[in-house]
Amino acid sequence: MKGLVLSGGAGTRLRPITHTSAKQLVPVANKPVLLYGLEAMRAAGIDDVGIVVGETRAEIEAAVGDGSRFGLRVTYLPQEAPLGLAHAVLIAEEFLGDSPFVMYLGDNLLKEGIAPFVRAFERSEPDALILLQRVKDPSEYGIAELQDGRVVQLVEKPAEPRSDLALVGVYLFTPAVFASVKAITPSARGELEITDAIQHMIDRGLRVEPHTVTGWWKDTGKLEDMLEANRLILGTIERDVRGEIVESTLEGPVQVGEGSLIERCTVRGPVVIGAGCRLSDTFVGPYTAISDRVVVEHAEIENSIILENSRICRLGARMSDSLIGRDCVIAHSEALPVAYRFMVGDSSQIGIL
Ligand code: G1P
Repeated sequence: MKGLVLSGGAGTRLRPITHTSAKQLVPVANKPVLLYGLEAMRAAGIDDVGIVVGETRAEIEAAVGDGSRFGLRVTYLPQEAPLGLAHAVLIAEEFLGDSPFVMYLGDNLLKEGIAPFVRAFERSEPDALILLQRVKDPSEYGIAELQDGRVVQLVEKPAEPRSDLALVGVYLFTPAVFASVKAITPSARGELEITDAIQHMIDRGLRVEPHTVTGWWKDTGKLEDMLEANRLILGTIERDVRGEIVESTLEGPVQVGEGSLIERCTVRGPVVIGAGCRLSDTFVGPYTAISDRVVVEHAEIENSIILENSRICRLGARMSDSLIGRDCVIAHSEALPVAYRFMVGDSSQIGIL
């Protein structure tokens, strides 16, 4: 069994973060989303993995390398343009050869990993195995319609969904999928959809087996889902304090990395704080992930993700439900005239009091 991890795509729903960074590398509980997927591959006994990369190839390669750190052998498969998930399968044909494979969308996170589904696939040997979970907003996903436990129809992001069973971004295929990805034509959004390719397999009379995912699943393509994934992972951490704690209270599961200094703070877990951070006179509330070398002074932060090297200082109110990129500064200013002063990238969102 081989692995195919998709790590291209523009990440438009996570702008402005994705103007400068791959969406698969945004950290959840201080670890890039993509690495959870790679670890899930390894845990399922898959070590030969192709990663489909686009414009952000250099960044993905810098984070993953040759894969040996994760016990994997990684081959990079460049996709010249984001032409769809089925197109990614097409360009991976030579790498995959005649091996069955798991395709994993690099921005997806599954609590139970993929091992149970790989075993189910090996046991019942269908032509394809798809994972499904009920969602509240079915028009944002590929949607499956079942009859008597069999898949009868799959539609990509239907305007009028006929069910609320979404396709999770993990699929298991035999090489029978190649004929279908070659047969389909681009969708209205101009992409070769894997959803259409699987429908084509069904239409050819091939066996497509549905499995329901019972543990949580998150597609981290949007801010609210990213924050929820962060909450779900932080909900599983244990206390591990390495930095220096001065006149501060740490409650519950809190992690503090090497070389960080926490002074006169209250940190209420679950919270993860990276290495080399400086926090003073600050409250950090539950479900916050602070990356390396972040500075926070006289502030209150909760349910947020803050990336490397950012500085947050003397906010007039608590910061909540936020995703702050790298090297950002959010600080109170004494300069006159009294005014908000912004330098904000394209597609940013700011909520002010
Ligand atoms: C893709 C698939 C969709 C699936 C989703 C799961 O959508 O096209 O069928 O339900 O992943 O994460 P995308 O997130 O690329 O819009």
